[in-house]
Amino acid sequence: MKALILSGGKGTRLRPLTYTGAKQLVPVANKPILWYGIEDIVAAGITDIGIIISPETGKEVQTKTGNGEQFGANITYILQEQPAGLAHAVKVAQPFLGDSPFIMYLGDNIIQSELATFLNTFKKQQLDALIMLRRVANPSAFGVAKIDENGRVLQLIEKPKDPPSNLALVGIYFFANTIHDAIANIQPSARGELEITDAIQKLIDREQKVEACTLEGWWLDTGKKDDLLEANRIILDTQITPSIQGEVDDKSQIIGRVQIGPGTKVVNSSIRGPVIIGNDCYLENCFIGPYSSIADGVTLIEADLEHSVILQKATIAGIHQRIVDSVIGQRAQLGVAPRRPKAIRFMIGDDCQIELA
Ligand code: DAU
Repeated sequence: MKALILSGGKGTRLRPLTYTGAKQLVPVANKPILWYGIEDIVAAGITDIGIIISPETGKEVQTKTGNGEQFGANITYILQEQPAGLAHAVKVAQPFLGDSPFIMYLGDNIIQSELATFLNTFKKQQLDALIMLRRVANPSAFGVAKIDENGRVLQLIEKPKDPPSNLALVGIYFFANTIHDAIANIQPSARGELEITDAIQKLIDREQKVEACTLEGWWLDTGKKDDLLEANRIILDTQITPSIQGEVDDKSQIIGRVQIGPGTKVVNSSIRGPVIIGNDCYLENCFIGPYSSIADGVTLIEADLEHSVILQKATIAGIHQRIVDSVIGQRAQLGVAPRRPKAIRFMIGDDCQIELA
């Protein structure tokens, strides 16, 4: 069994953050989204992993993620020249996949459940494809399944205007090698992509063995700002263990589950968990409220924030209004002029400099 993680594509919905970086490397609780998928796959006992990369962001993904040693895996990078669709990515990866069955994992998805149970079902029933479904409020944003009363999949449609159900396709699929022939026999969709949804539909039309299971627990497709913040909230809620490695002075107050990395200095500040703060940060006269993730090298002086993600080396100084529901890009600088507006809400890209006048 092998795994194929898709970390190419354009990341248009997370712009401006993704103008300068891969969306799969945007951190959730200070860890790149992509790494959650790698860890899930390794936990299911699969260590031979191919990662699809794009010409624009592939180098960054490769440099940051490495050869897989840190995950106990062996990673092969596979360049997809154009984001021509999920099924196209499988086509490009065929030399790596060979005849092996594989898990296909979209690099911007995170799920709560372990993969092992699904993997067992896939293997035991010798399926051609196992897909995962989850009820969602906005099915038009996803691939959608029409199933019969016994739960058998009748039809899959990619981003339908008029969805036949509210069952969305989760971005994690299990395939036998028969998927390659199905992909060889589909045409690009109206949006010009080779859709994996159409390839699975081909298997269904050929009466090959396609099963669906319903996903319990949370599933996050981190492609947009609010999804990213929600992923951050859930991961901080479930996966943060308190640990203070940096220096916290006696005028500061740490409440609840808070992780502070080495080299970080906290002066006269109040931090209310769950919060994660990376390495080499400097915080002075701040209030950091629940569900905040602060990456390495961030400087916060007289800042008040909660439910926000602050990326590497950003600086926020002198903003006394509470910053909420915000994502601040790498190296962004936020300062304030003497007269202050009443309410602010940000999604600011890398390298921006903002001053509220
Ligand atoms: O998240 C679940 C949804 O993922 C499913 O419900 C849909 O059926 C499926 O098509 C997919 O839809 P998205 O619109 O979310 O796919 P997106 O274009 O965001 O691509 C998903 C991941 O695959 C992302 O990490 C980028 C990567 N990718 C995408 C394309 C189109 C590639 O590596 N190569 C590609 O050509």
